Amino acid sequence: MTALPLISLRSVSRTYRTDGIAVTAVRNVSFDIAPGEIVAVMGPSGSGKSTLMNMIGLLDLPSEGAVHLEGANVAALSEDRRSSLRARSIGFVFQSYNLLARHNAVENVALPLVYCGVSRKERLARAEQSLQAVGMLHRAHHFPRQLSGGEQQRVAIARALIASPLIVLADEPTGALDSRTGAEILALFAALNRTGQTIVMITHDPGIATQCRRTIRLHDGELVSDETVAELLPRRSAAS
Ligand SMILES: Nc1ncnc2c1ncn2[C@@H]1O[C@H](COP(=O)(O)OP(=O)(O)OP(=O)(O)O)[C@@H](O)[C@H]1O
Ligand SMILES: [Mg+2]
Repeated sequence: MTALPLISLRSVSRTYRTDGIAVTAVRNVSFDIAPGEIVAVMGPSGSGKSTLMNMIGLLDLPSEGAVHLEGANVAALSEDRRSSLRARSIGFVFQSYNLLARHNAVENVALPLVYCGVSRKERLARAEQSLQAVGMLHRAHHFPRQLSGGEQQRVAIARALIASPLIVLADEPTGALDSRTGAEILALFAALNRTGQTIVMITHDPGIATQCRRTIRLHDGELVSDETVAELLPRRSAAS
C-alpha cells in the first residue's frame, strides 16, 4: 500500500497581476509528495520554482487548482489557521540564510517556537538539540557575522527543524556557497532525509539534483518532467 501523500497539488496555477499585466508563473501543475521523500525542483530562472515553493509552504495560495496538506485543502482554512499550520508543519531554508543579525545562533534557532507557545527555557533547550543535530552546538553563542556561510546555513537548517516540521522546503540552499561547502550542506540534507525527514529542495545545480531520488522540472511554469530513479549514482569524489 502506498502512503497517503503529505502534500498534493492538483491542477495548480498561480497568476500574478501587476499594473494590469498578468503573468502566469505556475501553470496546471499536479503532483504528490509522500512522507520521507527528498525531491529536487529544477528549472531555469523565472520558471516558477519559488512560486511553487510558496504554495507548498502555505505562504501563497493557487489562483486555480488546489493544494492539500495531509488531505486538507489549505485554501479552506482562515489566514490564522493557515499561519499556525505553516509554523507547525513547514521549515524554510533560504539561499541567503535569513538569520537575525542581532541574535546569536541558539536564539535564532529557538525563534520559531515563540509562535508555538513554548517557554523560553524549553525553547533554548530544544534549540541546543537542533544545533547538535546539524553539528553546530559548539557555535551556539556566536552571532551570524561570526560564522562562515556554511555554518550560517547549518544554523538556518537547525531553525527549520526546530518545530519538527512535516516538510523542510529549501530554496537554493547551496546557491551562495562554494561547491565543497554546498556538498556538505547537501550531505546534511541527505542524512536528515535518512532519518525520515521529507525535504523539497530547489536547485540550479544538476550535481545536487542527482543526489535526490526524485527530480521535478519546470519550464515556463509548466511541469515538464517528474522522474524518480531506483538507485542514486555514487557521488563522484573531487579526484575522479
Ligand atoms: N510577486 C510577484 N509579482 C509579480 N510577478 C512575479 C512575482 N513573483 C514572481 N513573479 C514572476 O513569476 C515568474 C516566476 O518567478 P519565480 O520567482 O517563481 O521563478 P524562479 O523559478 O524561482 O526563478 P529564479 O531561479 O530566478 O529564482 C517570473 O516571471 C517572475 O517575474
Ligand atoms: Mg526562485
